[in-house]
Amino acid sequence: MNHPCYICGLGSSVPSRVLTNADLEKMVETSDEWITARTGIKERHILDENANGSDLGAEAARAALAEAGLAPEDVTHIFAATCTPDHLSPSTSCIIAGKLGISASSGQMGRVMCMDFNAACTGFVYGLELARATLCLHPEAVILLVSAEALSRRTNFGDRSTCVLFGDAAGAVVLRSSCEKPLWNVADVSCASDGALRDLIQIGGGTASPIEVGSTVGPEWFVTMQGMAVFKHAVRNMAEESQKLLERNGMGFEDVDLFIPHQANLRIIKAVGERLGLGEDKVFANVQNYGNTSAATLPVALADARKAGRLAPGMKVLLTSFGSGMTWGSALLV
Ligand code: ACO
Repeated sequence: MNHPCYICGLGSSVPSRVLTNADLEKMVETSDEWITARTGIKERHILDENANGSDLGAEAARAALAEAGLAPEDVTHIFAATCTPDHLSPSTSCIIAGKLGISASSGQMGRVMCMDFNAACTGFVYGLELARATLCLHPEAVILLVSAEALSRRTNFGDRSTCVLFGDAAGAVVLRSSCEKPLWNVADVSCASDGALRDLIQIGGGTASPIEVGSTVGPEWFVTMQGMAVFKHAVRNMAEESQKLLERNGMGFEDVDLFIPHQANLRIIKAVGERLGLGEDKVFANVQNYGNTSAATLPVALADARKAGRLAPGMKVLLTSFGSGMTWGSALLV
């Protein structure tokens, strides 16, 4: 039996430290003009040395729980979408649970399931699908979906073709099958991938990058990317997946109040909007302020769009994303 999947609370968190295009001009051979023209990005937020992605995730989660009127001990599941976890193990979701004070004795079902997953920049969309499936099995579940990313920790600040693109951020939502004041219902989600394209974007540092105590790491530990190829796949896949999702729900783009695509590059955002025939007033962009924060872009954009008065509960929102894998997907919130 299908149960509704309501977003009952939403939160976001970005570090206070800002890295501007002018700062990058001092680090690599680049210019504000080039970065603005090719990406639209003006600044990104970067973690301080003593903080990690899980700190941002925990702060976003606290805000989402507060809006949902829930305490940490009400949570039954934490799903963390991240391609930049604090550690290979323990999971960022377990670390967030610890930071929120959630332990084995809390949780309305007597225990809490914590799990990380890596769908790169598509993590939030994939996470909405995980939440929908979980609520079918456990309609009483209180799910925290947290996108927590620390891309600056895997950015090669000597490589001008990638270091201008990324930033750190987290966003979180609380998902339940019933809710007094829901923000949105996650009406439908579609997720896809193509492993044949796995080499287009990579972040090393896993077990395929062996290392010995005392040795230094090479550039393969950082983000590498075939930018133009990614650009083309991103535009095509986000447009086609969004179209398919609307069609199977008997809707057209005229029914959508706000389209929020993955925030990687303003040119990609504009190209997708144009391909779908959407006016600029229907397409949300905040990549200028944060750069690409991978799985965190969509919940942060939802929170910013609401703050900017462009979104209200119950408005029809179409989310879409793409990322390393390659993965891509779309979600319809009503
Ligand atoms: N400053 C100045 N010049 C630069 C810079 C820079 N920061 N970076 C590259 N250039 C130069 C290149 O060296 C090249 O010079 P050349 O012509 O002399 O060789 C020239 O600019 C053009 O480079 P291109 O790579 O062709 O530039 P393009 O217009 O494709 O823009 C970009 C590059 C911004 C990376 C674009 O391709 C893009 O946004 N791609 C998509 C990336 C993306 O969205 N990734 C998301 C996934 S990340 C994840 O999943 C974690």
